Amino acid sequence: MNRFYITTPIYYVNDVPHIGHAYTTIACDVLARWYRLNDQDVFFLTGTDEHGTKIAQAAAAHNKEPQEYCDHISALFQESWKQLDISNDGFIRTTTKDHETAVQAFLKQLWEKGVIFKASYSGKYCVQCERFYTDDELIGGVCPDHRIKPEEQSEDNYFFRLSHFREDLLAAITQEDHPQHFKIFPQERRNEVIGKLKQEINDVSISRATLDWGIPLPWDRSQTTYVWIDALTNYLSAIGYPNNKEKLDHWWPANLHLMAKDILWFHAVIWPALLMATGLPLPKKIFAHGFFTVNGQKMSKSMGNVVRPAELIQEYGVDGTRYLLLSAFPFGQDGDFTKDLMKTGYNAALANDLGNLISRALTMVEKYCNAQSPAGEKSDLFNQVIDDLKPIGKSLDHLAFHTALSTLLIAVDRVNRFIETKAPWKMAKTVPQEVPTVLYEVVVSLKAIVFYLWPFMPGTAQTIWMQLGETKDLVTTAKKFLESPSLALFNNQQPIQKGTPLFPRK
Ligand code: MSP
Repeated sequence: MNRFYITTPIYYVNDVPHIGHAYTTIACDVLARWYRLNDQDVFFLTGTDEHGTKIAQAAAAHNKEPQEYCDHISALFQESWKQLDISNDGFIRTTTKDHETAVQAFLKQLWEKGVIFKASYSGKYCVQCERFYTDDELIGGVCPDHRIKPEEQSEDNYFFRLSHFREDLLAAITQEDHPQHFKIFPQERRNEVIGKLKQEINDVSISRATLDWGIPLPWDRSQTTYVWIDALTNYLSAIGYPNNKEKLDHWWPANLHLMAKDILWFHAVIWPALLMATGLPLPKKIFAHGFFTVNGQKMSKSMGNVVRPAELIQEYGVDGTRYLLLSAFPFGQDGDFTKDLMKTGYNAALANDLGNLISRALTMVEKYCNAQSPAGEKSDLFNQVIDDLKPIGKSLDHLAFHTALSTLLIAVDRVNRFIETKAPWKMAKTVPQEVPTVLYEVVVSLKAIVFYLWPFMPGTAQTIWMQLGETKDLVTTAKKFLESPSLALFNNQQPIQKGTPLFPRK
């Protein structure tokens, strides 16, 4: 069995979870579920990033001790992911003892390799980004991301010689046969990274002299670890680094680090360079998806336009939310969410296409087959639907969730058209004995669709599965089906259960 280690960024606890965080986390969840169905040994990691100036300030603003504040917000993230049916295998918090030990061990390795030096530094620091900016990176003197003026900071820091790794990084990214080759997607993002690496790059500060809320450096306890170095190490600390070598060797290197483009440099350049310096293998693939706005604006606490996952769940349900986030625009691209877009998407795909199909099918089975899943032996429709669905695997390998979902709807549409063409309600008047055979084709085709629906909408898939009269375990059957599709996997002549509509129109 192949193993697959997949990660989200760990989210800052200066704010409660919003749909931006949910976007990446749901995408990872779909992949984790899909690879589990395809017999891979998956470890799906997410977590919270809890140190640094930004967090210390947020805690103070809430009149809380930093740890108490972190515990509170981290728990909210965990709750949100539960609500959204996220199937993460691990949840890492950077304020745990194990993580602290790992960060110190990692830093010690870097120190011993001679890639750390001390220098006094003056620069402009954006607390919201938790990073220094050079003058030419600022736009009109303000941070390009948060539009705020960075603070002038001047202190003695320890630095990592990132610049020494520039050529090795370029080679590792661009040469497929390089022993440390890793991939960056999408192509445009990869090109941007390569473009920057072709020029001079700055060394990076790895410590802060003036911040208490962080992990002390092992060789100089007057300084704390720069929050990004602390945070990136989570990908190792969560899988046993430094003490559990067996676990670490099993899971590392990560197969996929997923994040938005805002933090690609940290993942595609700084992180691989740190790993190179310590002699650890590099992650295999880094994918930076787009950044979305809401009603044309960047979500921000100060704008008061931050959308919480719970708001969407209340309107569209858990699976409606999962569907809408991933179907709105291609995954690598930026996009804009509007209320209208969501409502239209929900009504068209979920209420009309999928929801209506299930409800029609169940109503007809109830009426013409005595509310029992019909028996049968063969089905052309089933074979066609399988052919429709197959490209979803490739789409998911390329993180093309949007395409995968359109493909799923093609299969749904095929079954809808089959029903229209056969018109079982007419057949019931002329050739009633043939109706169960037609409905058999519909029911088995829907079950095939359910398997592909499950990674995206696990709750809905489970409900449809049971409504169609299945008592077998969905996941086990799906695994067998994906290995070798067969009609023999299904239960026939079992009572169906017609419930309330899955996706009431909005
Ligand atoms: N703590 C760092 C990451 C450390 S990883 C070692 C951080 N945290 S964050 O809370 O700011 O999360 C940033 C990530 O949240 C983005 O990279 C992306 O995955 C997700 N998103 C937040 N807002 C988003 C959008 N508006 N659109 C798309 N993704 C969004 O950076």
